[in-house]
Amino acid sequence: MSATIIDGKAFAADIRSRVAEQVAALKTDHGITPGLAVVLVGSDAASEVYVRSKGRMTVEVGMESFEHRLPEETSEADLLALIAQLNADPAVHGILVQLPLPGHMNSDAVINAIDPTKDVDGFHISNVGLLGTGQKAMVPCTPLGCLMMLREHLGDMSGKEAIVIGRSNIVGKPMAHLLLGESCTVSIAHSRTKDIADVVRRADIVVAAVGRPKMIKGDWIKPGATVIDVGINRVEAEGGKTRLVGDVDFDAAREVAGAITPVPGGVGPMTIACLLANTLTAACRANGLPEPEGLTV
Ligand code: GUN
Repeated sequence: MSATIIDGKAFAADIRSRVAEQVAALKTDHGITPGLAVVLVGSDAASEVYVRSKGRMTVEVGMESFEHRLPEETSEADLLALIAQLNADPAVHGILVQLPLPGHMNSDAVINAIDPTKDVDGFHISNVGLLGTGQKAMVPCTPLGCLMMLREHLGDMSGKEAIVIGRSNIVGKPMAHLLLGESCTVSIAHSRTKDIADVVRRADIVVAAVGRPKMIKGDWIKPGATVIDVGINRVEAEGGKTRLVGDVDFDAAREVAGAITPVPGGVGPMTIACLLANTLTAACRANGLPEPEGLTV
């Protein structure tokens, strides 16, 4: 039987409209307009695309968007000075420094200079620690989007076997913590795992975040499992064109899985929607207001 396709595009649109509603209420009831500052250093083509769509969607939900574009050769000291200025600016509730940064910068030092309460990426060491100890944190956007989709499709995940494939700080590790928070039995597989197929075959929940096209095969998937594919890999297609594929062999996996996210149109759109949700959450917390319902963990 063919799997249910989890429509991330529609889900993300729904989150954005709920964010927009609550932004409008914040404005009318409290005179607060949430503001998101995005900092881009250099001119990485993929980053340019992300930053442009972040800016557009921020404005679409009624928030203030502050874009700071700095030249590639900007010194780390100058970037840190900008971050200090944004930390102190009450109109800025969220700060995102687009990664990767140029090679001459220490990304950890830059990320850890952001006020953790404005760290809408959830990358600051304080937020990593809060999430790891089950406390209220800013949760990284991509894993947050994955969790929202899993909750929507599975409800209670307690006792389920979950595998996260990939151990990055941005997706794999925070995802594993979120699944632990849902009382799943969690494994993390990575490039040194001896028999990934064997671990995947036991899993009721599979989150693939390795960045290798179609690495996860259909016959690895347990019948009825829920599969979340974080991979966005550009591969060559017919006629000299390119197309996007995930980390999972979608056509084969959909014949076995209970539910699966497509690429594109699965996890991808959820990331920016969750960034907006995190910015709204940060604005509420900064003003001592209740957190938006259904948009945080
Ligand atoms: N570069 C690619 N994805 C991301 C992200 O989620 N946050 C930041 N800051 N940079 C990125």
